[in-house]
Amino acid sequence: MTQLLSVNGELHQVTDDGDTPLLWVLRDTLRLTGTKYGCGKAQCGACTVHLDGRPVRSCSIPVATTVGRRIDTIEAVAGPEAEAIRAAWVARGVPQCGFCQSGQIMSAVALLRADPAPDDAAINRAMSGNICRCATYPRIRAGIHDAARALAAS
Ligand code: FES
Ligand code: FES
Repeated sequence: MTQLLSVNGELHQVTDDGDTPLLWVLRDTLRLTGTKYGCGKAQCGACTVHLDGRPVRSCSIPVATTVGRRIDTIEAVAGPEAEAIRAAWVARGVPQCGFCQSGQIMSAVALLRADPAPDDAAINRAMSGNICRCATYPRIRAGIHDAARALAAS
């Protein structure tokens, strides 16, 4: 089955079983390996990408359902919220092993686009599906607050 996917602003023709999870098309076919595999069951958030601007678990979305929609991955997510999150992550040294962090960043960027000044409860709600085995949660929360402040000041 040949499908046309819009990924990071470019069209890609991919040939695959339409039931294949989007994650594997991104990683194995398009070599966008910044998106990680953790659980394969929509439980950990490591595979988070944006679909039409909303965070989704790419391990659990059949690629056929993404045709005609906009897919953004960690390699190219852009805009003021993404820049603010990246800067805050670097300044805070948020990652430890780093494995979960592309998913964390994709969820954090989507949160700030929807809510430019989230409180702790809003952050916890938005980020609750992103698991970090290194328990970087306090730095993630602080980084999101830093990014929100930077956006408000810009
Ligand atoms: S790999 Fe997709 S949520 Fe865990
Ligand atoms: S930084 Fe290691 S799993 Fe999150």
